[in-house]
Amino acid sequence: MKEITFKINGQDMTVPEGTTILEAAKLNNIDIPTLCYLKGINEIGACRMCLVEIKGARALQAACVYPVANGIEVLTNSPKVRKARKVNLELILSNHNRECTICVRSENCELQALAKEIGVSDIPFEGEKSGTLIDNKSTSIVRDETKCILCKRCVAVCANVQNVAVLGSVGRGFTSQVQPVFGKSLADVGCINCGQCIINCPVGALTEKSDVQRVWDAIEDPTKTVIVQTAPAVRSA
Ligand code: FES
Repeated sequence: MKEITFKINGQDMTVPEGTTILEAAKLNNIDIPTLCYLKGINEIGACRMCLVEIKGARALQAACVYPVANGIEVLTNSPKVRKARKVNLELILSNHNRECTICVRSENCELQALAKEIGVSDIPFEGEKSGTLIDNKSTSIVRDETKCILCKRCVAVCANVQNVAVLGSVGRGFTSQVQPVFGKSLADVGCINCGQCIINCPVGALTEKSDVQRVWDAIEDPTKTVIVQTAPAVRSA
């Protein structure tokens, strides 16, 4: 196989052709933050947390989808890179339900960990939030759009690993959502409750329904044992 030689943070490196900057960095124990990336399953360059600088290039590039090329010089931690990652993280957080203290994924959340690592302490961008629905009609999975960061890891795992494909993307731009097919509840599509979407969700957008929640479902509606709630949209003053 053809080999490619390039520089990463000033160090010479040789890797097989087709290796992405992210994978090359991993081989060199260089940490590049990621959120949407799942090796071989979800390599879509969506979250832009893995941005790196390539000397001489006008725009920063997503390391998870950018293959190395002969002679390029990559910087993974330049001031420009750190600033762009911080702004991107602030933008993601601006559309995320940040009630972390009552989230079951608190202290086990990739977004929260990255915010601490990158040093995001407050969010300069506030406005209307795009996701409002909490679907807890399924007997085992709660899907909370207010926490979804649109990384689509759940979509890829559901379709490409489990071959179930009941989750998909709808809308564009601000109206983008990850939802079960036809906008239905997870309870009303062919979800097999395998839980792989929960395991691969980096935040608290997909969580396991607790036994306590199941009991409350039964108390509130003994005929169905289910409820669908809609959280109010949050708008800036
Ligand atoms: Fe590269 Fe999300 S990890 S864009």
